[in-house]
Amino acid sequence: MRTQVAIIGAGPAGLTLGRLLEGAGIDAVIIERRSADYVLGRIRAGVLEQSSAELLREIGVGERMDCEGIIHEGCELSFDGDMLRIDFADLIDRTVMVYGQTEVTRDLMDARTKSGAKIVYEAENVEISDFSGKNSVVTYQKNGETFRLAADFIAGCDGFHGVSRASVPADAIKTFERIYPFGWLGVLVDQPPVAEELIYAHHHRGFALCSMRSQTRSRYYVQVNADEKVEDWSDDRFWDELRARLNPDVAEALKTGIPIEKSIAPLRSFVAEPLRFGSLFLTGDAAHIVPPTGAKGLNMAIHDVKVLAEALIEHYDEKSSAGIDTYSARVLENTWRTERFSWWMTTLLHTFPESGDFGRRIQRADFDYLVASRIARQSLAENYTGFEKP
Ligand code: FAD
Ligand code: DHB
Repeated sequence: MRTQVAIIGAGPAGLTLGRLLEGAGIDAVIIERRSADYVLGRIRAGVLEQSSAELLREIGVGERMDCEGIIHEGCELSFDGDMLRIDFADLIDRTVMVYGQTEVTRDLMDARTKSGAKIVYEAENVEISDFSGKNSVVTYQKNGETFRLAADFIAGCDGFHGVSRASVPADAIKTFERIYPFGWLGVLVDQPPVAEELIYAHHHRGFALCSMRSQTRSRYYVQVNADEKVEDWSDDRFWDELRARLNPDVAEALKTGIPIEKSIAPLRSFVAEPLRFGSLFLTGDAAHIVPPTGAKGLNMAIHDVKVLAEALIEHYDEKSSAGIDTYSARVLENTWRTERFSWWMTTLLHTFPESGDFGRRIQRADFDYLVASRIARQSLAENYTGFEKP
């Protein structure tokens, strides 16, 4: 089998790229290791930047998002119970869309099923080769049979643990990494959200986040030590800890229940450079990871594939390699800007026992600066809603 672009991975990056290429008449095949249900079962991001929501509309998968998603004009920060609203609409004239990654993925999968564009689920032992030239090859097994897919280009959209980045020779890639000594314990519960907007809370017991998926489904997180297990956290322990980290009025309004999902995600900052190796391109979590505090992972993935799709369209339509040649630099510029913001939000809002009383005073000074300075709030709002280079 031969295609123009082989897309490895059917997460948000792979599915969005597939849709963008389909719209431009470029042939692509998506190869995914897991089943569609497994991919949809992963509870991850919840906030879309305005430009991500716009892109989903442009590619014809925005209808349900516009019905069921919730536009937020601001969010709240809480520092040891002191509340500060960041008013995106007033500060920067932008908004974000609260709409879960699961739903984005479902909409993209449904669109692909409807159009009949090729996607292979449950592909085992996916391998990529010969990507230094123009005749890349992807091999995989399915139902005991081995398949070979030749492609002009390979898009590595297979997440942090995927095969694409791992296939690049070690001396051709440089990686930058920070692993944080904590994770997020997340709970999904069918109860109305505690507040109309998201609350990002710093507390000396640790970070907490109150988020939502709808008016009847809430998503809550608390910072836990990196070595903790979900089994260590009974439902009661989770709710008590969350309440302890919130402003007392908010804690009192919290509606608890039996979680429908509970999991721990580690926190990491990671960047690979460069992001193009001959005809192989890395996108999304395969290229970079941010700690989730700024709600950026999914948005970065969407940004990357937009740049890649433009480059590939330019290649096929105009026979120009300009977009392909600048892909890595363009994506890395956005990546490092977003890495900085996610690192900063994480540093402001979490507890770092090793940085001691000095570190805590600096965090408080950072929060007080946000309270006092519209410019500081504007900078946060600009980054949170998605910085766009003029
Ligand atoms: P992924 O969503 O990881 O998709 C990659 C796909 O490739 C997967 O479907 C995978 O099965 C497939 N794949 C992997 N290996 C292979 C292979 N060898 N062959 C074929 N297919 C393969 N971001 C936020 O903004 N907020 C959050 O709260 C948040 N929580 C997260 C929690 C967890 C546990 C994780 C892991 C991430 C979280 N993120 C969050 C980040 C966000 O979900 C990611 O940035 C986003 O999913 C990136 O999309 P992607 O398509 O690049 O990668
Ligand atoms: C959610 C996750 C985030 O990382 C974030 O910053 C905001 C919301 C969520 O899962 O709802």
